[in-house]
Amino acid sequence: MSGQQEQKITEVGTNRFGFDSRVQVDTLRSLYLTPAFLKEGNKETDLAGQGHKDYGSESTYFKETDSIQYTTVAKFPPVKNLPNTERKRILVTGGAGFVGSHLVDRLMLLGHEVTVLDNFFTGSRTTVSHWVGHPNFEMVRHDVVNPFLIEVDQIYHLACPASPPHYQYNAVKTIKTSFMGTLNMLGLAKRTKARFLITSTSEVYGDPEEHPQREEYWGHVNCIGPRACYDEGKRVAETLTYGYQRQDGVDVRVARIFNTFGPRMNPYDGRVVSNFIIQALKGEDMTVYGDGQQTRSFQYVHDLIDGLILLMNGDETRPTNIGSSHEFTIMEFAEAVRDIVEQIQKEEGVANPRRVNIIHKEMPIDDPQRRRADTARAKESLEWQPKWSVKQGVEEMARYYLRMIREGKL
Ligand SMILES: NC(=O)c1ccc[n+]([C@@H]2O[C@H](COP(=O)([O-])OP(=O)(O)OC[C@H]3O[C@@H](n4cnc5c(N)ncnc54)[C@H](O)[C@@H]3O)[C@@H](O)[C@H]2O)c1
Repeated sequence: MSGQQEQKITEVGTNRFGFDSRVQVDTLRSLYLTPAFLKEGNKETDLAGQGHKDYGSESTYFKETDSIQYTTVAKFPPVKNLPNTERKRILVTGGAGFVGSHLVDRLMLLGHEVTVLDNFFTGSRTTVSHWVGHPNFEMVRHDVVNPFLIEVDQIYHLACPASPPHYQYNAVKTIKTSFMGTLNMLGLAKRTKARFLITSTSEVYGDPEEHPQREEYWGHVNCIGPRACYDEGKRVAETLTYGYQRQDGVDVRVARIFNTFGPRMNPYDGRVVSNFIIQALKGEDMTVYGDGQQTRSFQYVHDLIDGLILLMNGDETRPTNIGSSHEFTIMEFAEAVRDIVEQIQKEEGVANPRRVNIIHKEMPIDDPQRRRADTARAKESLEWQPKWSVKQGVEEMARYYLRMIREGKL
């Protein structure tokens, strides 16, 4: 993980393509590193550490009764005062999920009207609860396999479980969500002339024979394996998207997202970043599948959101990889996470943390050996490249999970 450039980041977003998406990082942090307190007898401990107390809900964990009290927001963060001509009506399907909730935070802070459509299969109301009641925000429980009618200007179509245990839980439903959900949202885009962006995935490349993966590469996917419901689901979703573009002139954007991590990632979904951080925080052995020589690249969620907003508002209509091009082995990553977590535990005053071991288990079927984005297209047409180092991202995420552990939620 060495060799990644690090700069202090105080602002995310850009002012490009006539769409100003700049937001202060501290404002975003106030929404996911929300105040939390631990009540033991008469004693109350502030779990939040420093700062980020301006907005968002608060929670107090009562240790004796093992209960949590939520306090709803007293005030919303200030959102940009956009003129009507610039304010967009934006639909985010899957907006209560990990990526969706960060996108919603950004779009709301920028002053747009946001509707979230979610069936809460893997997402949770708590990820966007700090916006409930805001005049620019609406949340609808809805399954995208059923049609939905609304007048909108832009559709970010994210709804789909993204982690293997979740998408394999009901494989047929995953394909249905990918196919019928995308069909319904494209139908909506056609009727309302809204611009449509789908979050596809690097999994469309399967276990790639080409490295790094350029968008022109057609992929190497096992169409009957356990991951096929997701990989083939996204492939057919892309096919549908370009079908609507060719036949009906729908204005489409396709983001092929590579591994992304950050706060609000479901701690139980078995993805490598959350697994490692939680295991290290809890003092459990860290599990590496196989010999750990398989490589991955990870991007921090704020970089992904920058990329999605740029893609939506720019002119690039071809599929576009959005991911980190910094590659490291899983073993290197595990060791780095262990060091970062130890440092956070020290800073946050965790008593007697245990130095954890790294153990190996058998590799799951169809797990790709190498995966790294070729991001030349995103660089050229969106002027986008990741800003956050993995270390900076893991630090934030470790603080977020540590808070959850102290609050009794993990
Ligand atoms: N996180 C990553 O690393 C990554 C990588 C590649 C692609 N993606 C894509 O980005 C999108 C978001 O991923 P995420 O990591 O936030 O996953 P997530 O599971 O946290 O979020 C998905 C959201 O979609 C909702 N959803 C699922 N099925 C639905 C349905 N039938 N109707 C309505 N809502 C439904 C879930 O409840 C959840 O809120 C997905 O399309 C995923 O394929 C993510």
